[in-house]
Amino acid sequence: MPHPSSRISGISPSGKDGWEVHFAALARFQNGEDILMLSVGDHDFDTPSQTVEACVTAVRSGHHHYTQLPGLPRLREAMAKIASEATGVATTADEVLATPGGQSALYAAVQATLDPGDHAVVVAPYYATYPGTFRAAGASFTVVEARAEDGFQPNAKAVGEAVRPNTRAILINTPNNPTGAVYTPETLEGIADICRRHDLWLFSDEVYWTLAGSRPHLSPRALPGMKERTLIINSLSKSHGMTGWRIGWLTGPAELIRLAIGLNLVSTYGLNDFVSRAAIEALENGYGVKEIADRYAARREIFLAEMRGFNAVTVRGSEGGMYVMLDIRAVEADCERFAWELLEAEKVAVMPGSSFGEAAEGHIRISLCQPDALLQEAAKRLKRFISAYPVQDKARAL
Ligand SMILES: Cc1ncc(COP(=O)(O)O)c(C=O)c1O
Repeated sequence: MPHPSSRISGISPSGKDGWEVHFAALARFQNGEDILMLSVGDHDFDTPSQTVEACVTAVRSGHHHYTQLPGLPRLREAMAKIASEATGVATTADEVLATPGGQSALYAAVQATLDPGDHAVVVAPYYATYPGTFRAAGASFTVVEARAEDGFQPNAKAVGEAVRPNTRAILINTPNNPTGAVYTPETLEGIADICRRHDLWLFSDEVYWTLAGSRPHLSPRALPGMKERTLIINSLSKSHGMTGWRIGWLTGPAELIRLAIGLNLVSTYGLNDFVSRAAIEALENGYGVKEIADRYAARREIFLAEMRGFNAVTVRGSEGGMYVMLDIRAVEADCERFAWELLEAEKVAVMPGSSFGEAAEGHIRISLCQPDALLQEAAKRLKRFISAYPVQDKARAL
């Protein structure tokens, strides 16, 4: 065939991608092996039935047609209302672009603000698609690691030191995947200050905003001078239990959103009609939001209660979102090796922290997307595995 573009070839450079343990475990699970899958980041339950029924009604009512490029007006209004509630900043429909999922909102944010050769600062540990999203725009990026010892709160000084003359944006994610860290007001203020001083965009990935743990969700958009430079990535995937429906949105200044509509023109040509209508109902009525948030809060507590008093591991971050991060360095320095051996010995699949960047080396990420009893069983197996871990390996790690 003729040559593909270097842009497309460069999105996912070949080689290891960090998902090896997960996919090996998944293949065995699908072959009928009794593996406890704590490596997945998707709900174990269906979309709330009211949302499903709203979709069925929409399909049966003939909503089979093209929709407005930035989203149906009522959908944008519903998204703006949620954005107002989630960020505490009054938001209008023209400040919202409906997209097929949060990932697409992030893609739109990057495409709308970075030219080839521009640079961004990305805080790690981060969601796995971030690097490829910048590469797809021909932009470079510097990763700034939030340290495990700081509970994975980013250090604003380190973020500031990564800013270059061609830096255009900083990307953060709170509540965080993979660490479950929920950024403090001080952390966000420090990062906002850098954005204001260097005239940067702040991409704020807030797809886990309903799972913020014990504190109310705090968006940097609410900080002084940030409304005009913050682009929020949002989604119904986590909050409303709608991962497979592919619906999310970007919130930002009306002028930038107006320009970004062009991306919907040339990529999706607008969203699916009946999915949009189900999403309107889900957003306007908050279908499933509280139940899902309560469920993850309870699961986090159940898993952490099992680990309490087990001193071989240290819990880091793990305040919100859908994940718990365990520091296993006192047992084994090589978290990938640990994850493979845990899978072999106890049939528990977890993600090695190294899949998410250097800062999460020596950690494992536990997904809470499983029922309570399974989480308890996994915690028991994990403790048994660690207690039996060969002494020479413990010594090697220390
Ligand atoms: C931090 C983060 N951002 C964005 C996304 C993308 O979500 P969506 O399903 O809406 O594309 C995910 C999905 O797991 C995520 O964890």
